[in-house]
Amino acid sequence: MLVMKPLLTPSILAANFANLEADIKAAEKGGADYFHLDIMDGHFVPNISFGPWVAKIMKTITDVPLDAHLMITNPREYIPRFLDAGVELIYPHIEASYDVYRTVQMIKDHGGRAGITLNPATHVSLVEGVLDLIESVLVMSVCPGFGGQEFIPSTMKKVTDLRTLLDEQKPSVRIAVDGGVTLENIRDLRKAGADFFIAGSAVFRAPDIEQRVRDLKKEMQ
Ligand code: DX5
Ligand code: ZN
Repeated sequence: MLVMKPLLTPSILAANFANLEADIKAAEKGGADYFHLDIMDGHFVPNISFGPWVAKIMKTITDVPLDAHLMITNPREYIPRFLDAGVELIYPHIEASYDVYRTVQMIKDHGGRAGITLNPATHVSLVEGVLDLIESVLVMSVCPGFGGQEFIPSTMKKVTDLRTLLDEQKPSVRIAVDGGVTLENIRDLRKAGADFFIAGSAVFRAPDIEQRVRDLKKEMQ
């Protein structure tokens, strides 16, 4: 079994956009490994967030790498724009296109790093179709669309099942978990086999953002 370093990825959806820079700097000081951009189009999910321009702003604030979670119906229309804006790793949803292989291929062709996202009710075996192209699988532990939702408990088993599948077929692929990640469940998620921990409210709604990032990182070791 390949053991990979766990990485903490604050989701800026829960940050204070009236003072984004202060929140980002605090998370960075605490040791944030990535920042997560939640892209919602009001169609694939029942909420609208922001576009590539926020990635450009983030690049003026921080050197911490960015990932983009595309909760959008037409990911291929926007992938080049996110990559041009400085996003390194892109996670389209497997449910968004019947030809998702082409979507993932496009990320690679444009020089990006590719992951794939699974909704809570999507079976882990579906990743097999794109395994040759991806470096990580993002497991949704809430229904996408909103921050601050409660963690779906069956995600633990899903992460374990996915880890088994990946260890058999492509051990280098990392598992990301997104939604309702807290100080209380992050250790169990690590034990189940997750490597990337995406946390919005747990980081940015904390009284001390910097300290919370440190605490989450300590718990996930
Ligand atoms: C939900 C998003 C998540 C969200 C996580 O659609 O994909 O990234 O921002 O937020 P918390 O950690 O508050 O559940
Ligand atoms: Zn997300």
